[in-house]
Amino acid sequence: MPIRTLTLPFDPIEDGQLLSEALSILESGGLIGIPTETVYGLAADAGNSRAVAKIFSAKERPRFNPLICHVESLEAACGIGVFDDTAIQLAEAFWPGPLTLVVPKRESASVCDLATAGLDTIAVRIPAAPATRWLCERLGRPLAAPSANRSGRISSTSAKDVDEELGSSVSLILDAGPTPVGLESTIISLVGGKPVQLRPGGLSRSLIEEVLCGPLAGKMPNDPEKPAAPGMLASHYAPAAPIRLGARDARTGEAVLGFGSLDGFISPDGQEILNLSPLGDLTEAAANLFGYLRRLDSGSPSTIAVTPIPETGLGEAINDRLRRAAAPRNR
Ligand code: TXA
Ligand code: MG
Repeated sequence: MPIRTLTLPFDPIEDGQLLSEALSILESGGLIGIPTETVYGLAADAGNSRAVAKIFSAKERPRFNPLICHVESLEAACGIGVFDDTAIQLAEAFWPGPLTLVVPKRESASVCDLATAGLDTIAVRIPAAPATRWLCERLGRPLAAPSANRSGRISSTSAKDVDEELGSSVSLILDAGPTPVGLESTIISLVGGKPVQLRPGGLSRSLIEEVLCGPLAGKMPNDPEKPAAPGMLASHYAPAAPIRLGARDARTGEAVLGFGSLDGFISPDGQEILNLSPLGDLTEAAANLFGYLRRLDSGSPSTIAVTPIPETGLGEAINDRLRRAAAPRNR
């Protein structure tokens, strides 16, 4: 069991030994599980191609799918990517936080080509978890980290999830408790002039539009043959059980994932019913989404029926994840 618990709130002195252990694993090309505010990450030194290769094999992730580079400061971000005025404006408004910016990659960036899948762009973010920022700073290079789940599966929102998904591939999992946001970062591309949202996520479109003083171009182009973010394949975030969206009732054998009032919802055969947010709060629902999907899935229901969730605010990202979880699978 590689899980080790961090002191909360973050105290680098109290946790000195644990953090030095984590740092020396990264320096010697190993993998660790890291906390972020969105989901847990599977991290390696982004400058070490052998270490980054281990991420792809541990996750069974296709190598055409680039990784996000995590840094501790805007200065470090500007060292690996070219930030125009809009990129700086968004970074200053939302970092540290659940936003990833795709910008042109600097040739001098201390990031191996495997991490960016050979692209001339790079995805960068500053995560809110202080222990992870501390590690980036001490390493002196970005941490390449995808979500800590096997490719196509539900993302990890606790250290225990990381252990279940990838425990045998990591030397250490830093446990900072459940992730507060619960959905991956929103990804905005700034490479084509106008900002474009490539992936809805833990920062809602409306907050970004407020800072941009205008609408955010392009909804996620949903062409699975040619995904805008190479990792946005149709089937993703998938539990073992099939998913039925827009459910208005519970059928025999079905577990239920609900939202808001579930008056009248009764499972005919006593399957589990979980409510993402009885009061209809989308922030609470986002934080609960992946954990509840995992929990319902562990009961091996015939199907997980999901009641309708509004498309506003974080609902855009929640529904995106649920549609992908419900999509036909190639495995
Ligand atoms: O919240 C998050 O974003 C988490 C935490 C750990 O930071 N990370 C995460 O990583 O969700 P991952 O690998 O599961 O998703 C990253 C997405 C993929 O869809 C990938 O294709 C896209 O980012 N991406 C990475 N680099 C890109 C680039 N240069 N251009 C377009 N998309 C990129
Ligand atoms: Mg992922």
